[in-house]
Amino acid sequence: MKDKERIDSQIEKLEEKYKDSGQDLSSYLDGLLHQRYLTYWDYINLDTLLSLQQPRTYFPDEEIFIMYHQITELYFKLILHEQKQLVDDKSQNLDFFIEKVRRINSYYKALISSFSIMIKGMEREQFLQYRMALLPASGFQSAQFRMIEIYSTPLENLVHQSQRENFSSENSIEELYEQIYWKRGATDMSTGDKTLTLKQFEYRYTPRLVRIAKQVRGNTIYHKYLQLPETKRYNKELVDALKKMDINANVNWPLMHMGSAHRYLAKGEGQVDATGGTNWKEYLPPSFQKVVFFPEIYSKQELNNWGKQWVDHIFNPEKK
Ligand code: HEM
Repeated sequence: MKDKERIDSQIEKLEEKYKDSGQDLSSYLDGLLHQRYLTYWDYINLDTLLSLQQPRTYFPDEEIFIMYHQITELYFKLILHEQKQLVDDKSQNLDFFIEKVRRINSYYKALISSFSIMIKGMEREQFLQYRMALLPASGFQSAQFRMIEIYSTPLENLVHQSQRENFSSENSIEELYEQIYWKRGATDMSTGDKTLTLKQFEYRYTPRLVRIAKQVRGNTIYHKYLQLPETKRYNKELVDALKKMDINANVNWPLMHMGSAHRYLAKGEGQVDATGGTNWKEYLPPSFQKVVFFPEIYSKQELNNWGKQWVDHIFNPEKK
């Protein structure tokens, strides 16, 4: 009897719900009657997910390379998922801000600590061969990596550091976008020639990235922080979480990533060309790129030393 009462009350609520939107509950109940039980594999699209690893060669380690990139892209998506909520938030609620940034940091933590899969988990000999079948593709073409940057900070902070002081929020999005650090990394500055990797990326993603940059103009995570009232802006937990995020995104992840470039592409005094065609030894180190999402929260000295000691550690281990 108790069950019957419960069901009656549920049906009443359902009737209200469907009436409100001009729908007929009885038809929906028929649908429920015929619907299959949900399974785990359908819910998470497991068959599709596991069909997405399609190597271009017969080297077994290429599958590891594909899967780890896919795992990383899913984590990037999780990061973006939190970033979008932060950008959309109008409440200026401190706990919400801290919670979201902490989640972002926990995703970075997983990425940073799992990079050993790339650094130690593949045979160099296999890598050097199957990568030739992947030309001119490069992780450089990860659009989500760029979106994370664009949601975090205004484009003027992503301008190549040699040009940064010549640009400001006064410039148009298009002007700033043209000077972004990663474009320069893949352009021969003496001839102005862009690598094919960059040209293809631009063709595919420029409209989308410019649209996002316009959409978040004046409203990036950095702006959200600067717009907080002073009492909240100096909150230590928030500042610590933001610093951590900045360092995760612009120092620690890039360093782990550079560790893998070093392991596979450096040979003695020379180096192997990268598939994306950048001069990677110059381009990848965080202290050379000096991308900082939230410059306001650091001292001058912290900014000057951005990522430096770690790069020394990798390239000049004897200095340590
Ligand atoms: C063996 C492993 C890896 C090696 C040797 C490697 C190498 C490189 C190199 C040399 C570049 C410079 C661009 C170029 O000329 O191609 C680059 C850029 C990049 N790679 Fe990788 N990579 C590896 C793994 C990954 C993974 C797992 C991801 C995850 C998505 C990734 C994402 C990126 C991104 C986002 C960039 C651009 C970085 C920036 O602009 O600062 N890479 N990679």
